[in-house]
Amino acid sequence: MKLEVKILIAFGIILFLCSNTALGWRSFNVLITSFPFKFNSDMIDVKIKIHNKTDETTLDVVFNVLEDINDIHLKYAIALEASEGNYTALLNRSVNMCNFLKQRSMEPVLRVIYENILKSGNFIKTCPIKRGIYSLHEYHADEEILPSYVPETNFIVDIKMDLPNGKMVFQGRLNGKIDKSKGFNNLKMFSLG
Ligand SMILES: *[C@@H]1O[C@H](CO)[C@@H](O)[C@H](O)[C@H]1NC(C)=O
Ligand SMILES: *[C@@H]1O[C@H](CO)[C@@H](O)[C@H](O)[C@H]1NC(C)=O
Ligand SMILES: *[C@@H]1O[C@H](CO)[C@@H](O)[C@H](O)[C@H]1NC(C)=O
Repeated sequence: MKLEVKILIAFGIILFLCSNTALGWRSFNVLITSFPFKFNSDMIDVKIKIHNKTDETTLDVVFNVLEDINDIHLKYAIALEASEGNYTALLNRSVNMCNFLKQRSMEPVLRVIYENILKSGNFIKTCPIKRGIYSLHEYHADEEILPSYVPETNFIVDIKMDLPNGKMVFQGRLNGKIDKSKGFNNLKMFSLG
């Protein structure tokens, strides 16, 4: 079961990356249920707010960078709840964020998510990260980055940013839920045989 889920997700991501055209697949909502986080207040101040709308949730994020940051590492993981309380990681990666910002194609999945994020505000685009305010307004996870047959389940996205010396800058965990209560299942369109 878990392996199957992994394969489906991987397949969906590949399908998306290959097609890259909006096919109007949307058959579910991505709901954000909570986003606990912490940060190093010597370097940064962070505010994150979840807005509950009728059938979707959006995020407002404000990163107030207090001093220039020359180099930064990013760890990110996406995991699905395979059975109650048991999460299976689909991705668990560690990258130099500055290298990624220079050459986004090195992390294809992160690139899709990041480029989607950049549409919602003036987020971090280059290194060094200059002191100042970076923000997202009403960011909504684009359903089109996920395949329509993604299972209805809880998921987490872990984000950790560290300095090269290991000092924590930001750490957060987005808890979310794939909600299909309003969707239709168009699995047939992509029959896997
Ligand atoms: C949003 O709605 C969910 C239930 O649908 C609730 O658990 C959560 O506390 C609400 N969050 C806010 C910020 O109102
Ligand atoms: C969680 O998944 C692991 C790995 O598949 C399995 O060994 C374990 O029994 C599961 N735990 C629960 C509580 O379901
Ligand atoms: C990702 O990997 C790290 C280190 O290997 C581990 O501590 C963490 O629990 C993993 N994250 C997820 C969501 O599986």
